Amino acid sequence: MLKSGDFKGKLGEVSLFYLGEERIALVGLGKEDAVSVEMVRRAFAAAVRLAQGKKYPTVNFVFPNVKRLEREEALRGFFEGISLTNYAFSQYKKDKAVVLKAAGLIGIDKKDLPLLEKLQAVISGVHFVRDLVNGNSDDKSPQVIGEVALAMEKRSGRVKTTLLDRKALEKEKMGLILAVNRGSSVEPCVAIVSYQGNPKSKDHVVLVGKGITYDTGGLNLKLADGMLTMKSDMAGAATVLETVRVAADLGLKVNVTAVAALAENSIDGKSFKPGDVYRSHSGKTVEITNTDAEGRLVLADAISYAVDHLKPSCVIDVGTLTGAIVIALGEEMAGLFTHDEKLADQLLAASKASGELFWRMPINQDYSDMLKSEIADLVNSAGREGGSIKCALFLQEFTKGVPWAHLDIAGPAFLTKPKHYNTAKGSGFGVRTLVEFLEGF
Ligand code: BES
Ligand code: MN
Ligand code: ZN
Repeated sequence: MLKSGDFKGKLGEVSLFYLGEERIALVGLGKEDAVSVEMVRRAFAAAVRLAQGKKYPTVNFVFPNVKRLEREEALRGFFEGISLTNYAFSQYKKDKAVVLKAAGLIGIDKKDLPLLEKLQAVISGVHFVRDLVNGNSDDKSPQVIGEVALAMEKRSGRVKTTLLDRKALEKEKMGLILAVNRGSSVEPCVAIVSYQGNPKSKDHVVLVGKGITYDTGGLNLKLADGMLTMKSDMAGAATVLETVRVAADLGLKVNVTAVAALAENSIDGKSFKPGDVYRSHSGKTVEITNTDAEGRLVLADAISYAVDHLKPSCVIDVGTLTGAIVIALGEEMAGLFTHDEKLADQLLAASKASGELFWRMPINQDYSDMLKSEIADLVNSAGREGGSIKCALFLQEFTKGVPWAHLDIAGPAFLTKPKHYNTAKGSGFGVRTLVEFLEGF
């Protein structure tokens, strides 16, 4: 096939041929001097897609000999490419997509197994987040996600879960989460999952996730196209919860807590209203200039709570915050906002290893003028220009000087089409980078 030129070995190229009863596929890894871990992932993703298309129940994959990569690196690309791609959400389909029920890995030694098991533990987290994000909004209400967090405690034994129900939120004066949820027929909740993998250390990473289980926009109602994907608006919460579960599962030597701010932004006679002022957990008051800028509201209360109660050495918030970041960076990159160079370096290094793309964005302090209100301490939204930066500036108001990073994953959390080893819709974006970050912390 190579001689004839029918198969060129281009990255992601696949060619199927037959030897007697055997089907054999060649998979292109691209130019030998340019093969990276990511290229290996993509090549084997293409192989899995071929198998899916042909509805093969099992495949044997041959581990490639890549001179440019360490064995561990090549193994990572090989295994992640296969296992991340091998996912389908077909709960509601009669004609179910075929996922491989088994795969042979040829060229793998016994001594490779610990690494592969570790990779699979992380990938199971990615698949779990995809399932949650893809599921019906009504099947993942704040309460249900709270129960998922509780189940983590039962399942793992290494994590502790605390749920703040409506009463607790009222007692804690988390007025912004309560405001966002007012128009909903379901109860809000904050789920806290903690793992102390390094009890001797004072370091404590707190991950705060946006968990809007449906974002209609509220009284500033979204239009049809904008609303269509908004069951995915809890991706940040799912990501941080599952990251902590995976960290515990792997026994990482790190102290980490996930705080998921869970609410539904719906419309009703009880909805919170544009122009009204609400008091946040921090005491700062917020004039609601747009009920659709609800993510920063629930995160503000959760960040403030985390800073006051959890003694974080750093706070990283994660969520599908702004359409503006999708316009700026497209669907495959997340925005990273931080003033902390060390956090930036650590997160970008983790991103490089995972292959999940993060791009550092500026926090122009000057723009904070635009968040001024005539009648309150802040407005929650102020025009479209630099929208993602203003969201970061708003959140910064609630961090009380703790080292902080803000990850706006509005683009890559939910994909319009399959890309490489990601399926369409929920991608589980962020889990792999955050686990990598914690491992190196
Ligand atoms: N959940 C949305 C952001 C979003 C948009 C995520 C598209 C994924 C895809 C968020 O709550 C929102 O509505 N943001 C507004 C903010 C604006 C009102 C300042 C937006 O981006 O339009
Ligand atoms: Mn919104
Ligand atoms: Zn939202």
